Amino acid sequence: MTSSMKEGAGDSVVYEKAGGIAIVRLNRPEVRNALSFGLISRLAEILHELDADESIGASVLTGGEKFFSAGADIKEMAGRSMASFEKHDDFSVWDALASVGKPFISAVEGYAYGGGCELAMASDMIVAAEDARFGQPEIDLGIMPGAGGTQRLTRAAGKYRSMRYILTGEPFSAAEAERMGIVTAVVPKGQAVREASRIAALISAKPRTAVLLAKKAVRRAAENQLTEGLLFERSLFYSLFATLDQKEGMNAFLNKRKPEFKGE
Ligand code: CAA
Repeated sequence: MTSSMKEGAGDSVVYEKAGGIAIVRLNRPEVRNALSFGLISRLAEILHELDADESIGASVLTGGEKFFSAGADIKEMAGRSMASFEKHDDFSVWDALASVGKPFISAVEGYAYGGGCELAMASDMIVAAEDARFGQPEIDLGIMPGAGGTQRLTRAAGKYRSMRYILTGEPFSAAEAERMGIVTAVVPKGQAVREASRIAALISAKPRTAVLLAKKAVRRAAENQLTEGLLFERSLFYSLFATLDQKEGMNAFLNKRKPEFKGE
C-alpha cells in the first residue's frame, strides 16, 4: 500500500486505497470493534463512497490482526426497550450494506461474534485465518441475532447446524465455517488481508460493469426473498428487549458476572 490510512481522532472506520482496491478497517479496538449504529452507518457510507470512486474495483473489510468484531455494541443496546427499537428501527442502518454495488470481502483474523459474524456474512466473500472463530453468542445475552444471523447462517449451513450454533451460542472454527460453506478460503494466521486483497485485486482488473452485474446475479441466487426473513428476525429481536432476560443478560456482561436467567 502506498497511500496512508485515512484516520482521524475517533474515526470508527478507516480506509486506504491503492492498486485498484480499498482496505477498510473497523477501528474501535478498545471495545473489540463493537458495532455501534454509528459505526455501521459510517461503514455503509464509506462503501457507497467507494462505489462512486472509479479508481476502486473491490474492497477488503478487516478488523485488524487480533479480532474482526465482538458484535453489536452491548453498552449501546443494554438500556433500550422494545418500544424504542420499534419506533427508531435502529437496525435498519444495516440495510444500506445490501445496496453496495462493488464486491467487498471480509478478511477475518481472530473472532467474529454476533453482529461481527453477521457483518462478515453480509459481505460478498469471507477469507478466514485458520485460527479465526465465528459465533452467534446472542443467546447468552438473553437475545437472538438481529442483523441477519438466523437467515444467512441457515441459508448457508442448513437448518441443523444453524440451530446448533444459534441456540447454544457455541463458537465454531474457521475449518467448521468452511465445511458449512460460509467461508471462501482459509489461510494461515496473519494472511487473511493479504489473500483477500489478492482476490480483490483480481476482481478489480476485470471489466467493471460485468463485475457489478455478476455480483447482483449471485446475490439474487443466494439472497432471493431474504428481505422478508430479515424483517421477521429484526422484529423478534426488538421484541426480546421487552424481556427481563435481555436486561439481565446485558447487565451481567457489562458487570462481568454470570447471568441468572428466569425465562421471562
Ligand atoms: N459491545 C460492547 N462492548 C464490548 C463488546 C460488545 N459486543 N465486546 C467487548 N466489549 C468491551 C468489554 O465490555 C470490555 O470493556 P471494558 O474494557 O470497559 O471492560 C472491552 O470491550 C474488552 O472486552 P473483554 O475484556 O471481554 O475482551 P476479551 O478479549 O477478554 O474477550 C470477547 C473478547 C470474547 C469477544 C468478549 O468481549 C465477548 O464475549 N464479547 C461479547 C460478544 C457478544 O456477546 N456479541 C454479541 C453482541 S449482540 C449482537 O451482536 C446482536 C446482533 O445480532 C447484531
